[in-house]
Amino acid sequence: MKSTKYDLHTAVERRGTGAAKWDLLPEGRLPFWVADMDFAVAPEITSALHARVEHPVFGYTLPPESLYEAFREFQLRHHDRSIAREHCVVVPGVMPALRTAVELLSKPGDKVVVQPPVYAPFFDSVKAKDREVAENPLVLENDTYHMDLVGLEAIFQAGARLMLLCSPHNPVGRVWSAAELTALAELCRRYEVNVIADEIHADIAHVEPAEHADIAHVADPKTHTFLPFDAFLRAEDEDSPTGAQVISLVSPSKTFNIPGASVAFAVIPNRPLRRRFRAGLKANGLDHPHIFGMISSEAGYRSGDTWLKALGKQLHANLVQLERLCAECSLKPRLFAPEISFIAWVGFHDFLASYGLSDEEFQEKLRTVAELELSHGPDFGTGGKGFQRINFATSPALLEECFRRLERLA
Ligand SMILES: Cc1ncc(COP(=O)(O)O)c(C=O)c1O
Repeated sequence: MKSTKYDLHTAVERRGTGAAKWDLLPEGRLPFWVADMDFAVAPEITSALHARVEHPVFGYTLPPESLYEAFREFQLRHHDRSIAREHCVVVPGVMPALRTAVELLSKPGDKVVVQPPVYAPFFDSVKAKDREVAENPLVLENDTYHMDLVGLEAIFQAGARLMLLCSPHNPVGRVWSAAELTALAELCRRYEVNVIADEIHADIAHVEPAEHADIAHVADPKTHTFLPFDAFLRAEDEDSPTGAQVISLVSPSKTFNIPGASVAFAVIPNRPLRRRFRAGLKANGLDHPHIFGMISSEAGYRSGDTWLKALGKQLHANLVQLERLCAECSLKPRLFAPEISFIAWVGFHDFLASYGLSDEEFQEKLRTVAELELSHGPDFGTGGKGFQRINFATSPALLEECFRRLERLA
């Protein structure tokens, strides 16, 4: 599936550039772990960076109004989401903002809800601040992961007042539905639970090209529309110091493959909370956004739509390929096709059971025999055993090679 304007079919050679995904591995091992893409960014981003480099001073730089404008227009175009200018705070990445928000919305010893299997640094962000993780594991029903709303209510009843929502959910690839978010918002309202919504994977919709209409069984873009959680839990009064609040963390980094740029947005409608959040950022030394991050983010948001659509088509094609590769693979992996973005949650339970392998032994064999680095399921917490997460934002040729190598274990 070659895009005419952009080459999103080729994995750019990244070895030797300090790429964490590639350069942390010994020679010969192929990476499908760290969640960035092997594709070149939109040329509009490169041009904007070149233009800025022409000016030879790179001092402390304020987020320009044009950045907020590009961000808000993108949100309106892509998610029909109207964000007030004053609600936006530019932050140096989702995780620094999430950690600051955890500090702000809880005290040491408090319980913070996470829904494993989930992005592993969520656990650290809670524990590092001496808070306690309260797990509400996702439930797997009819081949689909759901939130356990009954379990969640019990945790809220037991006193938890802060929740980390991963929306869409990494690693299981769910785009939470309106029904799920409505029910969640209702619980949060009833128990006055604050929510930090990590929406970093929200923009990467799969696009089904017309010529693939016959294989529409995966990733139907129409049924997987991302819905921002704050639309479900909107406070009437932006000045009220009480009531359930949402801090949404929105980022261009996955969207435009610029995670090294370290820029994201916190969207905080509540005025007192926003003021405290800004103070928290300053206290943690996180109040100077990266100059080149801001340039690349603005360029992506302003001019990256065509690239993003081409990416969505390529990811759809890669997912179709992944489905085929899993179906043909002797290890009998069970693929949970993501509804958005570029990470796939794959179960190897049958293979582990038939060879009597533990997760750790399997990981070792993946590394040493198959020479592959996948993301180890158990690292995502409860529910991760027997799984590996595969990043499929790479060339079809490398994906093919990944599965060729998996056969070495059969
Ligand atoms: C759910 C989720 N949140 C946050 C991050 C990291 O965000 P940042 O690099 O902006 O801190 C990732 C990266 O993989 C992620 O998957």
